[in-house]
Amino acid sequence: MSRDAFVLGHPISHSQSPLIHNSWLAQYGIEGSYRAIDVDPAGLVDFFARLRAGEFVGGNVTIPHKQAVWELADMRDDQTRMIGAANTLIVRSQATDRIISATNTDWIGFAANLDEQAPGWDQQGGEALVLGAGGASRAIIIALSYRGYSKIHILNRTEGRAIALAKELGRHVNAKLSGGGLQDFAHLAPNAGVLVNTTSLGMHGTRFEMLDISLLKKDALVTDIVYTPLMTPLLAEASQAGYKTVDGLGMLLHQAVPGFEAWFGTKPVVTSQLRHIVERAMGLA
Ligand code: ATR
Repeated sequence: MSRDAFVLGHPISHSQSPLIHNSWLAQYGIEGSYRAIDVDPAGLVDFFARLRAGEFVGGNVTIPHKQAVWELADMRDDQTRMIGAANTLIVRSQATDRIISATNTDWIGFAANLDEQAPGWDQQGGEALVLGAGGASRAIIIALSYRGYSKIHILNRTEGRAIALAKELGRHVNAKLSGGGLQDFAHLAPNAGVLVNTTSLGMHGTRFEMLDISLLKKDALVTDIVYTPLMTPLLAEASQAGYKTVDGLGMLLHQAVPGFEAWFGTKPVVTSQLRHIVERAMGLA
């Protein structure tokens, strides 16, 4: 029985996943391995043959394969089906066969990070604002809806994408979803208990020029899934205006937990020590 896991991507050299999982393997004294494997899109079907042959217990998947593996897998859970992309594969033995199950743990990581950094963040059950309508936005909307937010407004530079996403996901989640443009922030902000940025804006010092953060409710939580830099311009602005903020690095750490548990049988704990190790490796500390 294999005890080997992987992170699959193209390119893959920047992934912090080997550092995270190998730290846990060492910490818990588990005999197993986790390594980065570079496979280009043309090689994905061959890689699945290796999975079906039992070479690995499973692994993580990153850009550009998250949607393709979702399609190639044999099984998907409900949330993963809605998100339309997977970041984790689990190989399960069934009689003489092996079944490849695809799951998306980004939404779990997002919620677990807020549970750790902002306990009670989901107690309000009110309105949430999500910036962006791409792949990352889907996982956040699922998390917010599962954790009781009743109204989620998706605001995007390209308004049509936000409206389409609200319509599509709105059929499957409990929350009421609406889509709009960034100009809608001003009238929605006063009722929002949480603001999440899911766009790449914030990297390389870029910022949303047109959002007046101070319009948010005084007790609103502001969080960003971008973690390079840790303190994005949005978080800096929110923090300066007195809002509670949570950076995105914890989501990266927490999304790794369910995979590790499924492959190696131990539920790992995200510690501040692990966070420091990753911060140092990324040059963030
Ligand atoms: P991902 O899967 O990481 O979410 P994506 O599907 O390419 O990536 O989506 C990127 C998101 O960031 C989109 O919501 C995009 O807005 P558009 O739909 O208008 O393209 C948003 N985004 C990227 N650059 C942006 C910018 N400079 N200003 C505002 N939004 C931006």
